[in-house]
Amino acid sequence: MTITLGFDIYGTLIDPYGVTTRLAEYTDQYTEFSRIWRDKQLEYTFRRGLMRRYENFAVCTRNALDYTDSLLDTSLDDEAKQSLMEAYRVLPAFEDVATSLAVSKDAGFRLFGFSNGLQSAVEGLLQHAGISEYFEGVVSVDDLQTFKPNPDVYHYFLEATGAEPGNAWLVSSNPFDVMGAINVGMKAAWLQRSHIAVFDPWGIEPTIRIKSLEELPELIS
Ligand code: LAC
Repeated sequence: MTITLGFDIYGTLIDPYGVTTRLAEYTDQYTEFSRIWRDKQLEYTFRRGLMRRYENFAVCTRNALDYTDSLLDTSLDDEAKQSLMEAYRVLPAFEDVATSLAVSKDAGFRLFGFSNGLQSAVEGLLQHAGISEYFEGVVSVDDLQTFKPNPDVYHYFLEATGAEPGNAWLVSSNPFDVMGAINVGMKAAWLQRSHIAVFDPWGIEPTIRIKSLEELPELIS
């Protein structure tokens, strides 16, 4: 049976902190700003999912940008915010991505992007990073109008790709995403992108833990 890999996008293949260079043009607090922006963006997806008040990921990102600007009193004007949102559409891929995707595809795995992001935004990022050729497709939660880690979106991934849970892997640096996949019976690789990243102690464990995507292909079976 062919193995299907669903790659999370933001934080796993594509670096959301790539926006820091653009942020540095507007504020000295760029490190703190980018961290709060990212955390708030994810918090908004969780809260919108719970409240069933869906707005797409780009809206969550923009709302989180406005929040962070107010919190840190950075007084960004609309042009600066537009520029930051544009930077978000051309974020870079992490260094280990292209080679690992090529090896995974050569090994016969089916590769998909699987993201909270809009399909068009994700396709744009993959193209900009020069890695779209490795993917059979992109599955976006937008089709269901809710967000990870709602179990429905993982079931939807399986349905959309025609994969069975036992042969389908989620690959993600986001612990909440890994736990969401394990929760529906999929396999999941937690990519520990930072040495200070901690996996949530809920007793739901990833199938494997890796520190670079380069470790992935030989551990998958
Ligand atoms: C994604 C978020 C979780 O790409 O990073 O789905």
